[in-house]
Amino acid sequence: MKIFSVCTDEITGEIKAAAEAIRAGLLVAFPTETVYGLGADCFNPPALARVFEVKGRPRFDPLIVHIADLDALDRVADIALLDSQGRRHLKLLVRRFWPGPLTLILPKRAAVPDLATSGLPTVAVRLPAHPGARNLIRLSTGAVAAPSANPFGCLSPTRAEHVRNQLGDRVDYILDGGPCTVGVESTVLDLCAGEPRILRPGGVSREDLEALIGPAALDGGKDAAHPRSPGQLKSHYAPRTALSVHLRDEMIALAYEAGEARLFFDAPSRDAWLETFRPPIPEGRVSVLSETGNLAEAAARLFELLHELDGQGASRIRAELVPDAGLGPAINDRLARAAALPAGRQP
Ligand code: TXA
Ligand code: MG
Repeated sequence: MKIFSVCTDEITGEIKAAAEAIRAGLLVAFPTETVYGLGADCFNPPALARVFEVKGRPRFDPLIVHIADLDALDRVADIALLDSQGRRHLKLLVRRFWPGPLTLILPKRAAVPDLATSGLPTVAVRLPAHPGARNLIRLSTGAVAAPSANPFGCLSPTRAEHVRNQLGDRVDYILDGGPCTVGVESTVLDLCAGEPRILRPGGVSREDLEALIGPAALDGGKDAAHPRSPGQLKSHYAPRTALSVHLRDEMIALAYEAGEARLFFDAPSRDAWLETFRPPIPEGRVSVLSETGNLAEAAARLFELLHELDGQGASRIRAELVPDAGLGPAINDRLARAAALPAGRQP
């Protein structure tokens, strides 16, 4: 595995080599503004099969196809199959949120292999904002299928070293673009099912979507046996350490137990939180997502802090839920899924 650094939007020899690797059917982990992706040529079934294998991802969980320019949309999605409302929404959404952390579920073109979409008649498409990602996509085949670059069900990677630690030599290249600025995955919005539905809360808030296109219900995936989006599986994004989620009152009322770690949303400050408990919580066992209560900062730091706490050998992590506005639902969704026990794991 080779690691290259790609912080700028320059087309470097490294980006060209990584793009060539994708064309040759290899796997390249790359930064986006949300999380790191594990990229493969979207039109190459053996390369796609390796993505599922490397992640240990079930084949029924489809991938997102990443494009670098709007022109490429037509190669993967058949817009003519959308109803008139869907077409109108698509136009508005693309103008306002692309490039950016919004994935759209659209009718699929036959050219996209069934393996990419798990046999669904729809395809998930995203145009990321990260300039390095877009150069990689543009210089390779123009359509790169990429799930998050983590083993299935584990914490998402927001730094190149998270990818290296979790997938190591199972990937061919890692492009290092530093920490991801958004920090939670893209919002997945289905435009194929009549009224628009949010299948995964993410980097674009529901409020911002609804201000543009009207009601967009959050599909909670209540039918757990048949989730509309397999990312709605209850346990997902999980650290190895047992995690539970709490409201602030509970966080304060629950006596600190030796060995546990606490993740607070906001103020007062890490040091003040250390002193809140008697006996005080030891250094290094408390983290704060955003001291100023800024949800964008909290999202950007969420997986990073969870990776950090997970690496410290704590006996458990107690995490505070954040306010339910803006990026809050995306953060709470990741925390709640991190708290659900994977099948077969004992409490
Ligand atoms: O921010 C992101 O979206 C990151 C970066 C790398 O772009 N990617 C990402 O991919 O989070 P992944 O594979 O971890 O999540 C893709 C989500 C899954 O929940 C999957 O079930 C859903 O999108 N999905 C993909 N295709 C779908 C489809 N045709 N219909 C419904 N859901 C779909
Ligand atoms: Mg993922």
